Amino acid sequence: MTELTDITEPATPAAPVAFPQDRSCPYHPPTGYGPLREARPLSRVTLFDGREVWAVTGHTAARALLADPRLSSDRTRPGFPVPSARFAGVRDRRVALLGLDDPEHKVQRRMMIPSFTVKRAAALRPGIQRIVDDLLDAMIEQGPPAELVSAFALPVPSMVICGLLGVPYDDHEFFEAQSRRLLRGPTAEDTQAARVELEKYLGALVDRKAAQSEPGDGVLDDLVHQQLSEGALDRAETVSLGLILLVAGHETTANMISLGTFTLLRHPEKLAELRADPSLLPGAVEELMRMLSIADGLVRVALEDIEVEGETIRAGEGVLFSTSVINRDAAVYEDPDSLDWDRSARHHVAFGFGIHQCLGQNLARAELEIALGSLLTRLPGLRLAVPAEEIPFKPGDTIQGMLELPVNW
Ligand code: HEM
Repeated sequence: MTELTDITEPATPAAPVAFPQDRSCPYHPPTGYGPLREARPLSRVTLFDGREVWAVTGHTAARALLADPRLSSDRTRPGFPVPSARFAGVRDRRVALLGLDDPEHKVQRRMMIPSFTVKRAAALRPGIQRIVDDLLDAMIEQGPPAELVSAFALPVPSMVICGLLGVPYDDHEFFEAQSRRLLRGPTAEDTQAARVELEKYLGALVDRKAAQSEPGDGVLDDLVHQQLSEGALDRAETVSLGLILLVAGHETTANMISLGTFTLLRHPEKLAELRADPSLLPGAVEELMRMLSIADGLVRVALEDIEVEGETIRAGEGVLFSTSVINRDAAVYEDPDSLDWDRSARHHVAFGFGIHQCLGQNLARAELEIALGSLLTRLPGLRLAVPAEEIPFKPGDTIQGMLELPVNW
């Protein structure tokens, strides 16, 4: 089968490569990252503003550094790298959880853990299955063709996270549009404005919940009626936590569903294996996570000098983790550019690693297994409705995924 691009282009050892770059094929790292693959585990790269930072690309080095408290996630620290012009404003304000270092991070993480355990995700499965079935029923009733992002990939995680948090799904058009603008707004002003809009919206929701004498059963209700009312969180922190949970909870998984489906449709033999043996599904989800590495470019700043693999990362220097390159490290994954449902992809860093490792990973796995599994079973004739090359996907500086996915069945 023809791939969309040749990802094994020869590397040209030259000046630091630009980072991030757009992918040429939505499920492979950008061809321009060839030199980074050659130079594992660490390279110098150039950001949009000409600043040089480190890119971590080796699997062992990545796991060591992601667990190293000398790297900070606090966006407000001097030297914190900004991956592109549209994110210039992220350094203005502290971000809950994702943007905190220990010990503050640990306090918020501990509050959230009970809501995101494997057991909790398992209990959500019947509800997720109902959402998936209803959306597929509606698609089937309407008949082909369909645009899979808006008909399925986005509403599944959006409905699930709304139910879990206690956010009204009726407001989905508003918060989905603002989340899109936050992650992909054309200018820094746009992404800033989107954050303000989402904070206003969640602030009003938090106030409404605080005024209720009978709390609802969402995670946000728990935060308001326990942590906020007991003074463990202030209002701004509660809003910031709500924002990250809402945005991370729907945008990421939606992209995995759309890009995962596209990737399966481009690998019909792998898709046939899955249809023939659904017990392969959990391993396939893990392997797709590794292969697609949709959160490509985790960001940190060094607080002290760090010696690693013969190099010194200096205090104040920016450090980026290219998960797409790390997850294709041939020292860890044999034949890393191909899909293999039987390999143990578990140690991938597509959910990050260390203290910030994805809080929602158990939920995401449940959603992906149910969404992809049901899609393949219910629509046995699923195929792209237009040539693969014509289907638009997301730019390299944000979460990777399909902008649209026209399908037939
Ligand atoms: C397949 C979908 C997902 C992917 C690929 C993904 C990826 C990631 C990654 C790479 C990180 C670490 C970021 C860093 O170290 O800087 C992260 C953190 C996080 N994710 Fe996810 N995520 C997904 C789904 C979800 C879902 C469904 C939620 C639900 C609420 C969620 C909530 C979070 C939160 C709150 C954090 C911050 C954790 C912390 O700092 O302690 N994610 N995610």
